[in-house]
Amino acid sequence: MPNPIDRDRRVVLKAAGALLFGAALSPAGAAAQGATGAKIPIGTIGAGHIGSTIGGLWVKNGHKVLFSDRHPEDLKGLVASLGPLAQAGTVAQAIAFGDAILLTVPYGAIPQIGRDYGATLKGKIVLDTCNAVPARDGAIAEEVEQNGIGVTSQKYLPGARLVRAFNTMSYMYFAEQANRPDPKLAVPIAGDDQEAVRVAAGLVRDAGFEPVVVGKLTDARLFQRGGPGYGQRVSAAELRQKLSLKP
Ligand SMILES: NC(=O)c1ccc[n+]([C@@H]2O[C@H](COP(=O)([O-])OP(=O)(O)OC[C@H]3O[C@@H](n4cnc5c(N)ncnc54)[C@H](OP(=O)(O)O)[C@@H]3O)[C@@H](O)[C@H]2O)c1
Repeated sequence: MPNPIDRDRRVVLKAAGALLFGAALSPAGAAAQGATGAKIPIGTIGAGHIGSTIGGLWVKNGHKVLFSDRHPEDLKGLVASLGPLAQAGTVAQAIAFGDAILLTVPYGAIPQIGRDYGATLKGKIVLDTCNAVPARDGAIAEEVEQNGIGVTSQKYLPGARLVRAFNTMSYMYFAEQANRPDPKLAVPIAGDDQEAVRVAAGLVRDAGFEPVVVGKLTDARLFQRGGPGYGQRVSAAELRQKLSLKP
């Protein structure tokens, strides 16, 4: 039985995320177009702090975004604040809608999402923002520590074309820094599927940041919690230097 207090907190949180996002994005920032050229439909699984912020940036850039979570009726305020390119629905609807999916839920929910939606996520480009936090996510955080986060996410979502992205900084900082003048804020990404990485890089640009391709899913360790690339509020050139990547 859902706790009504938790539910109220969620509605407030989702509305606050939308307001914060709206205040942070200047008209000049909204006008700065990204680099994919083509606008693709995007579904989000999760529409909390990160989902509403990054999804909102894509809407401002001209992408259609269907936001989802287990309580899509609570997302009305968010989508109303973002205008006609934004809609809300169920997780199944978001997966069917999106050519790319933003997966942005507490890490402990990933095995359940894999069980319930794994078949429909097969072949989809999935940008995974999720961090494993021991106090919140339990035993799976230990698995992530041992095997690396990219490999662990892929284990629970086999067949998804997974790219790690948008996990290293707070949603508030993303909201503040999106579309800032050059040098843009660097966002590290990693994945095994080259085409998925290319699409994800374009979506990072469309959100107003500079992608830095760190490597394959095994390399996502470099910017998981506790890794040298985590929490780095730097430009792409600085991040490449810190991670000893080719310029
Ligand atoms: N907050 C940050 O600044 C930040 C920065 C980088 C990365 N991250 C990581 O990104 C992920 C999302 O963080 P957040 O701060 O945005 O979380 P959040 O604000 O708590 O939002 C989580 C969202 O996921 C939904 N959700 C939870 N369980 C679900 C399930 N089983 N199926 C479908 N939807 C589910 C929630 O809605 P319902 O409960 O209504 O379903 C909510 O919309 C986390 O893994 C976090 O560690 C967060």
